Amino acid sequence: MNSMVEFYQPQADFGTPSSKSTELVTLSIDGRDVAVPAGTSVMRAAFEAGIKVPKLCATDTLESFGSCRVCLVEIEGRRGYPSSCTTPVEAGMTVTTQSDQLAKIRRGVMELYISDHPLDCLTCPTNGDCELQSTAGEVGLRDVRYGFAGENHTQLEKDESSPYFTFDSSKCIVCSRCVRACEETQGTFALTISGRGFDSRVSVGPETNFLESDCVSCGACVAACPTATLTENSIIESGIPEHSVTTTCAYCGVGCGFKAEMRGQEVIRMTPWKDGKANEGHACVKGRFAFGYATHKDRMTEPMIRDSIDDPWKRVSWDEALTFAASRLRSIQEKYGTKSIGAISSSRCTNEEVWLVQKMVRTGFGNNNVDTCARVCHSPTGYGLKQTLGESAGTQDFASVADADVIVVMGANPTEAHPVFGSRLKKRLREGAHLIVIDPRRIEIVGAPHVRSDLHLPVRPGANVALLNAMAHTIVDEGLMDQRFIDSRCDKVAFSNWLTFIQQPENSPEAMEPHTGVHANDVRVAARLYATGGNAAIYYGLGVTEHSQGSTTVMAIANLAMLTGNIGRRGVGVNPLRGQNNVQGSCDMGSFPHELPGYRPVSDDAVRGSFEAAWGVTLDPEPGHRIPNMFEEALSGAFKGLYCQGEDIAQSDPNTQHVEAALESMECLIVQDIFLNETAKFAHVFLPGSSFLEKDGTFTNAERRISRVRKAMEPIAGKADWQSTLGLAQALGCDWDYESPEQIMREISALTPTFAGVTYEKIERLGSIQWPCWDAESEGTPTMHEESFTRGLGQFIVTEYVPTDERCSRRFPLIMTTGRILSQYNVGAQTRRTENSAWHEEDVLEIHPEDARERGISEGDWVGISSRMGDTVLHARLSQRVRPGVVYTTFHHPVSGANVITTDSSDWATNCPEYKVTAVQVTRVTQPSDWQERQKHFDVKQQRLAKDSALG
Ligand code: SF4
Ligand code: SF4
Ligand code: SF4
Ligand code: FES
Repeated sequence: MNSMVEFYQPQADFGTPSSKSTELVTLSIDGRDVAVPAGTSVMRAAFEAGIKVPKLCATDTLESFGSCRVCLVEIEGRRGYPSSCTTPVEAGMTVTTQSDQLAKIRRGVMELYISDHPLDCLTCPTNGDCELQSTAGEVGLRDVRYGFAGENHTQLEKDESSPYFTFDSSKCIVCSRCVRACEETQGTFALTISGRGFDSRVSVGPETNFLESDCVSCGACVAACPTATLTENSIIESGIPEHSVTTTCAYCGVGCGFKAEMRGQEVIRMTPWKDGKANEGHACVKGRFAFGYATHKDRMTEPMIRDSIDDPWKRVSWDEALTFAASRLRSIQEKYGTKSIGAISSSRCTNEEVWLVQKMVRTGFGNNNVDTCARVCHSPTGYGLKQTLGESAGTQDFASVADADVIVVMGANPTEAHPVFGSRLKKRLREGAHLIVIDPRRIEIVGAPHVRSDLHLPVRPGANVALLNAMAHTIVDEGLMDQRFIDSRCDKVAFSNWLTFIQQPENSPEAMEPHTGVHANDVRVAARLYATGGNAAIYYGLGVTEHSQGSTTVMAIANLAMLTGNIGRRGVGVNPLRGQNNVQGSCDMGSFPHELPGYRPVSDDAVRGSFEAAWGVTLDPEPGHRIPNMFEEALSGAFKGLYCQGEDIAQSDPNTQHVEAALESMECLIVQDIFLNETAKFAHVFLPGSSFLEKDGTFTNAERRISRVRKAMEPIAGKADWQSTLGLAQALGCDWDYESPEQIMREISALTPTFAGVTYEKIERLGSIQWPCWDAESEGTPTMHEESFTRGLGQFIVTEYVPTDERCSRRFPLIMTTGRILSQYNVGAQTRRTENSAWHEEDVLEIHPEDARERGISEGDWVGISSRMGDTVLHARLSQRVRPGVVYTTFHHPVSGANVITTDSSDWATNCPEYKVTAVQVTRVTQPSDWQERQKHFDVKQQRLAKDSALG
């Protein structure tokens, strides 16, 4: 076992949170001198000294509460028996944690709890992993004098509505840990203690259950519960785990650390890792519970090949599949030229796997035709931040938000798409930080329990640049800029050019109002708040990048941060919220056709030379094809072979019919995935992929944090993804000999300056590392651009607002925009194969009641959505979250065909598709669209061809 595979035991609990104070206080506990930071509780000080104090209502993820009275201690000079969890340490304090009197009191308290608790420990699912049970043992409780004849709660009914956990109220000791977890950690406030005294019970509200309540199934209450009252169903079914492996969630770009708790090869539970720096012990419903897809019956477990997509598949050995794929690719190159093949790497795969894909393209294919699914989400972030600040990544760690006074959330929906960061954000807002939301839609944090935005600017889709320019204009106009910062940190000429531009009257909020649709005064108020409210941080998502002016918007955000000096320290910065788990990593690893790893141009002789020396080949100095160019070239007959790793382009890329035509024209499409996804239905070679549970490697999250992914179970199809790519490269004649992902990381560090100091040993020791990590001594960089920008002087860039070509017309009078929801993930391939579908069975179209009324549409009607590209049909949901003139949908189900409608208009600098702006008409209909009918038949045919696959 490696050092992060451990026999199962609950994670250490110090009773109360750690204190951030730098002042040390010394006290004596049970005769031992202990020095801890001021503000630490007596309980935590004791635990840190290795002295265990019995506890029930305290846990170190929550503020102390002081209700159970089990943790009493004696403190010299104090009367009575103070509770150690609520008493802060004081210098010179003398504490006794064990005495006859304390033991007697504690036994008495425990006796009362146990007398109202079912005595079914032997058959209880958490037997051996229950704090009530262990605390009874610790205090020496041997018998209970009170019988069960009196009034008690032992017969209460269970709430089994949640697909993931059970609430057995009969076992509840009303310690409130769950209620506090829901409030303090998650910020949902779904739970309450109803009733008083003996009648006090935990409740999700009157007349409801967990599934139907506001609960978002994050599992924080389950993790906090010291008894079997809130228990994962997997524990009830399979018992407590026997070992655990520390790893990283493979869903979103938050990159939460988890303990995969196992019995043999079976995952019993995913428990958020308390030492995980991205999540600090919290999780969301996806990472915490939606892991069942990894062993779903739909998993593809054998390589398959076929000559044509109308043929049945032949199941073959790995060797045969890889040889077939390699010989097809080579014969395409002989016929159509070196540049006729390429690859798409996956933002869901590890850094090491992505590294091998781009290396195979550059050394084995002999060209630079490699791109990544990050193209379709955050490529403008890479471009925009590189131009202005000098580094293609966000500037802060997530913890930095705790120091922000003003938070701008733009084109992002953190509580749905980045939920654990969303919880951190809400916590800071509850502490009093101000919030400005810039989004066409009224997202949850505009008005959630105990959270309310100061301003919601419902910008028209496509007008982000206009709005940001108007904010910058106001700041300059009203003299609110940070001139000292600008003078000392930014390029003078660039600033002066930009200043002339931004001062133009056409950039004023008043002049921009017809474009933005936002009242000029609201823009001015927002600008003043951002510029003068203290530490101001901007968090943004795909609602910023997925536009024809995505890169311009990112640069406008960076301009704002530099203008106000909100960069280079905690609590401020420019923070892209990345969609998929390894979007940052796949970009860092050189998945772009014009850049080698570390964002260095392939055209740079010196950079290319360092790779040529290490790899022993001559590299092509010409940039290769981006994904959209690959499709264009395929349709023109010049691009015939594609290796697509872990990315479902047929579903996720815009203008589906165009993508399908390009895929159909390929002579060799190799798809590597864990399921027969939509793209695989057009494939000639299928290589079964491995889930994150089946491999070793690293992911890099939205904070640039490199975390380990560790193998918890053997690869179901026999190979981890890095081994499949290795096999294909070897079949192509590459002289590669990797034995482990760690060996690949050594090569990454040797060739990528920002990773130079990254080793598995260091990640093991520190838990994770935020790049840049320049050398062996460095422990990474939580905050970037502290003293100076990576590029030297910050570069203000003129960001002229150019309206998108995608305009409303009489034929297409509404604007459709897209987004995500909490329970589903991206194209839904994983989450649709879990119980998460209980919350979202289908994608629907949100439409404002006024627009619906005009069209005679009622809630639940089938509606046809047509754009200049195509049509699809969804059910309608009437919603005031969108403004009149705007409709909204998600894209988690293939049959929804959201991308049949989206156009191939894209960002001017990076080709990131303009998913967020499509002019549409919506009408009431009675049947699915033609495309949906065709898709259904094609799906049935391809499923049959896969099912009828024969051994080759
Ligand atoms: S699962 Fe999360 S949201 Fe639901 S009640 Fe528990 S803490 Fe609250
Ligand atoms: S459900 Fe668990 S955490 Fe909540 S009050 Fe009851 S025992 Fe405590
Ligand atoms: S917030 Fe993201 S990384 Fe964390 S558990 Fe949820 S999906 Fe996984
Ligand atoms: S643990 Fe201190 S009062 Fe409950």
